[in-house]
Amino acid sequence: MRKPEDQQLIGESPVFLEVLEHVSRVAPLNRPVLVIGERGTGKELIAARIHFLSGRWDYPFIKMNCAALAETLLETELFGHEAGSFTGAAKRRLGRFELANKGSLFLDELSSTSSGVQEKILRVIEYGEFERVGGSETIHTNVRIIGATNEDLPGLAEKGKFRADLLDRLAFDVITLPPLRERPGDILTLANHFAVKMAGELGKDLFNGFSELARKELLQYAWPGNVRELKNVVERAVYTCRDYDQPIVDIIFDPFDSPWRPGTHPVKENQGSILLPDEPYDFKQSIQDEEVRRIKSAMEQCRFNQKKTAEFLGMTYHQLRGYLRKYELTENDE
Ligand SMILES: Nc1ncnc2c1ncn2[C@@H]1O[C@H](COP(=O)(O)OP(=O)(O)O)[C@@H](O)[C@H]1O
Ligand SMILES: [Mg+2]
Repeated sequence: MRKPEDQQLIGESPVFLEVLEHVSRVAPLNRPVLVIGERGTGKELIAARIHFLSGRWDYPFIKMNCAALAETLLETELFGHEAGSFTGAAKRRLGRFELANKGSLFLDELSSTSSGVQEKILRVIEYGEFERVGGSETIHTNVRIIGATNEDLPGLAEKGKFRADLLDRLAFDVITLPPLRERPGDILTLANHFAVKMAGELGKDLFNGFSELARKELLQYAWPGNVRELKNVVERAVYTCRDYDQPIVDIIFDPFDSPWRPGTHPVKENQGSILLPDEPYDFKQSIQDEEVRRIKSAMEQCRFNQKKTAEFLGMTYHQLRGYLRKYELTENDE
């Protein structure tokens, strides 16, 4: 476990300070807490702060990523198992709920738990008891649960994908972390913090800041991966910097950016799995958009020669003409 002093939370923007205040208020209460936020917004750090500001700070702070394991393995990790409860279970093993006794248990990616596991968690919250896998003895434990997710739990509960009774209990208090783009005032503070640390790690005793353009780029970027992404981008910038006497100029946001990146060639792309949106979407429209995209890029590749394009796409000239008319891609040549 990281020491509390390593878990410095950086940020001074009003929304962030509000969150810290909320954390201080809820920390001493002996109730479950939910921490909600996009990936990389600092959910785990906030959970640790809740624990270390609570009366349980001197007892274990145990973490479990619920998305990391399949259902049965997760169940034994959380609740432990008795010897001989399944093949390979030679000895009794204590689960995290027992290890966290008198302390806090951080359940990350809570939304990916099965209904069975959720039921067991609910029982621990309500009665402080459970049985180990393969056991009949009732174990008592005194654990505060801090759950985290980047999903919309009420929405999942409405669709029957998350137990509403567990959600009711967990939602005693909910802390929602703002994405980094909603607190731009923290971007440069965080960037400087991570840069100074990285420079120190590399044995450079001087960090000359970022150039004006670099600062602008950092501020304008949308940071979908939030603070985690910022940390990586800044560390990369410090590490790739050649001249430490000058402020940092180069910021590489996407390390995969390369003309040779597999999958980005217009013909070969999309052979693997397709990224689907989370929301319901218009299937027909998306197929049509894809047809337009492919025809356009084939046309470009064949320098707008329709015969060659048809050949390239494995269709007849008349079929291609049909598509061009259907999608009104013919204006320029008629
Ligand atoms: N306010 C902050 N101050 C300093 N570091 C932060 C802050 N928020 C997040 N981090 C860092 O960003 C990374 C991601 O944080 P984490 O808590 O794991 O995010 P999440 O669990 O929401 O994905 C970690 O390296 C963490 O130390
Ligand atoms: Mg996390």
